[in-house]
Amino acid sequence: MTDYSKAFRLDGKTALVSGAARGIGGAIAEALAQAGASVLITDVLERPGQETVERIRRAGGEAAFCKHDVTDEAQWQTAIARAEKEFGPLEILVNNAGIETAALLSQCTLEDFRRVIDVNVVGVFLGLKHAVRAMSPGGSSGRGGSIVNMSSVAGLIGTTGHISYHASKGAVRLLSKAAAVECAQLQTGIRVNSVHPAIVGTEMGENFVRHFVDLKLAPDYATAEAAFKAAHPMGHFGEPADVANAVVYLASPAAKWVTGTELVLDGGYTAA
Ligand SMILES: NC(=O)c1ccc[n+]([C@@H]2O[C@H](COP(=O)([O-])OP(=O)(O)OC[C@H]3O[C@@H](n4cnc5c(N)ncnc54)[C@H](O)[C@@H]3O)[C@@H](O)[C@H]2O)c1
Repeated sequence: MTDYSKAFRLDGKTALVSGAARGIGGAIAEALAQAGASVLITDVLERPGQETVERIRRAGGEAAFCKHDVTDEAQWQTAIARAEKEFGPLEILVNNAGIETAALLSQCTLEDFRRVIDVNVVGVFLGLKHAVRAMSPGGSSGRGGSIVNMSSVAGLIGTTGHISYHASKGAVRLLSKAAAVECAQLQTGIRVNSVHPAIVGTEMGENFVRHFVDLKLAPDYATAEAAFKAAHPMGHFGEPADVANAVVYLASPAAKWVTGTELVLDGGYTAA
């Protein structure tokens, strides 16, 4: 009989997770390490990044930290080379780093719009470009692999007050599909997928709710939170682990026939 549990293991694989010092990225790094991968945690935040590494090592996993701004192309090359040197051929990339700002369309500054596009879209493009180079046959890693890009339900539907964020996450959705098709048709052995969470209980998740009060779209935090929870038919926000489990699946051999898909994790938000 097939041993199905092995299909979800990542033993011997090297992973890089961007923006993994805290929040969803931190949980993804922990989950990949528990599934057997060696994980390079990258982030602009050094101390929490090192703390995540320590947490993984204390639990018996393998991890290291690399300071890395995803908007900088040279830093991507350094980070990927570091992952390969430290742990071996790169087979998993999670483009998780992201930022969120809130403003009504008529008030949104060009500077804010460009900043969000720079981190959320250019950052993902650069990660894809250099990981595909490394993972493709003849590349520095050369074993194919799985790339997971962090989009959002904000990449599928619109809401008030988050114009830049929606534009950026919509772009991540189609960057992922175009890369998936190209990588498959060129026989690179690389799969590319996107994940689309609704509100997850992290610093960003809290800010997202708070911004509705700042924009005077809700009278106070409790009212805004209750309205958002009610928009999720399951009645509550997600946990970082809900996203991390999905990323482990997409990174693993269990998803070997899955590419170009958009995996929605939203407690029913976009089904309602
Ligand atoms: N929390 C949510 O409700 C939610 C929902 C859907 C999607 N997401 C997405 O999930 C991802 C993680 O979000 P989170 O909730 O954990 O947010 P978070 O703010 O808690 O963590 C984001 C991490 O990205 C890092 N980062 C920011 N800019 C960076 C840069 N230029 N280079 C490298 N690292 C950088 C931050 O330092 C931080 O550690 C983001 O892409 C976000 O858009 C979050």
